[in-house]
Amino acid sequence: MQLETERLIIREYEAADVDAMQRYCADPEVLRYTLWGPNTPEMTLNFINMAADYRAESPRMKYEVALTLKDSGELIGGSALYITGFNGEIGYTLNRSFWGKGYASEAADALLAYGFAHHGLHRIFATCRPANAASAGVMKRVGMTREGRMREHLWAKGQWFDSELYSILVHEYAGKQKA
Ligand SMILES: CC(C)(COP(=O)(O)OP(=O)(O)OC[C@H]1O[C@@H](n2cnc3c(N)ncnc32)[C@H](O)[C@@H]1OP(=O)(O)O)[C@@H](O)C(=O)NCCC(=O)NCCS
Repeated sequence: MQLETERLIIREYEAADVDAMQRYCADPEVLRYTLWGPNTPEMTLNFINMAADYRAESPRMKYEVALTLKDSGELIGGSALYITGFNGEIGYTLNRSFWGKGYASEAADALLAYGFAHHGLHRIFATCRPANAASAGVMKRVGMTREGRMREHLWAKGQWFDSELYSILVHEYAGKQKA
């Protein structure tokens, strides 16, 4: 899978991406609200291999993809799309140097378009920790609606976590494209 947006090429990971990924996969500021990490280079390589296994599945239901700058090819982060029935879930993580420039929203929007058009999804959702205003900001910017808070639905790192849940339906997305 490869998608092109105004400023990004969204492509499959390659083994050579480890170094660029390590620049954010071991950054405590990037990992502040994530339930994964910090990664060692070996863990990041395992993740790339896992992404390659997803790519080999048919029909493909899981995408872990690299976000790269169209003009330089630099890898600036990663995004994900996971499909269950008519529902999809998206996620995103960026190297801190590239925050606040609209890249996550650009990538999320491309994954919404792909999920609705290519997979015929009806609803795509995303979740974040309640304090993660940047992640919620992406969900709002791509037109998702807040559904509510899932209370203590995740157990990780020795504690329960709440999540904010946002989603967008296929007809809402189509309406947004026309507007
Ligand atoms: C979440 C993350 C991917 C956002 O990336 P980004 O490219 O900076 O986001 P965007 O520039 O597309 O911003 C989208 C919206 O969120 C807002 N936003 C961005 N950072 C924000 C912050 N720290 N606080 C409040 N709002 C913020 C932007 O202003 C924008 O809203 P607008 O359309 O009203 O201007 C990035 O902060 C990140 O990688 N965080 C660490 C990993 C992570 O937490 N991932 C999500 C796990 S659920």
